[in-house]
Amino acid sequence: MAKLIYSAIASLDGYVEDDQGRFEWAAPDQEVHAFVNDLERPIGVYLYGRRMYETMVFWETVDTGSDEPAVIRDFAQIWRAADKIVYSRTLQAVSSARTRIERDLDVEAVRRLKETSESDITIGGAELGGQAIAAGLVDELHLLLGPIIVGGGKPALPRNVHAQLQLIGERRFQSGVVHLHYRMRT
Ligand SMILES: NC(=O)c1ccc[n+]([C@@H]2O[C@H](COP(=O)([O-])OP(=O)(O)OC[C@H]3O[C@@H](n4cnc5c(N)ncnc54)[C@H](OP(=O)(O)O)[C@@H]3O)[C@@H](O)[C@H]2O)c1
Repeated sequence: MAKLIYSAIASLDGYVEDDQGRFEWAAPDQEVHAFVNDLERPIGVYLYGRRMYETMVFWETVDTGSDEPAVIRDFAQIWRAADKIVYSRTLQAVSSARTRIERDLDVEAVRRLKETSESDITIGGAELGGQAIAAGLVDELHLLLGPIIVGGGKPALPRNVHAQLQLIGERRFQSGVVHLHYRMRT
């Protein structure tokens, strides 16, 4: 059975965007980007909230010429090769290939997708991912915490959820980013 994985790049105090709606402070450097590329490489399907899709669809059209950094070209290829499902009650059309819209996060449909998918599945952003965590759909978490406190904004993890986790991996990067890899305890 495929795993459903929630990944987020967040501040040390746990926010994916600050209270101004900004998240440029979370942008990965080349070392972290290469690591993220390797996390995403085996993923077959991305489940996106509409807001995260609107950020990520940039990868559909980004320049992949030889002048661009290798991590950028690599991630663009990884992104374009995966299927995407965008959850939205407002979005009328998508602007990337291999992409469809769902109007509700149907827990049973995601369970069936996990049973039938040949490769693992990721989910993001924080709002959609939080619903999946609360519904018990998420199997693993990858948190990349940067050396910054932003004081408020959009939390990477859902409120009002109580869950036990098992730490199954960690890594420290030159920039001070720390990667924490957790398995949800059932
Ligand atoms: N830290 C980082 O590295 C990083 C990277 C990229 C982006 N970001 C930030 O993170 C944000 C994305 O996270 P987010 O938590 O704001 O949003 P999100 O989960 O990506 O998207 C929220 C939207 O998804 C749709 N949705 C959510 N639950 C749904 C459901 N059950 N059924 C149908 N549709 C559903 C709704 O879209 P509709 O309103 O269309 O119905 C909702 O407004 C970005 O906007 C950006 O600011 C941070």
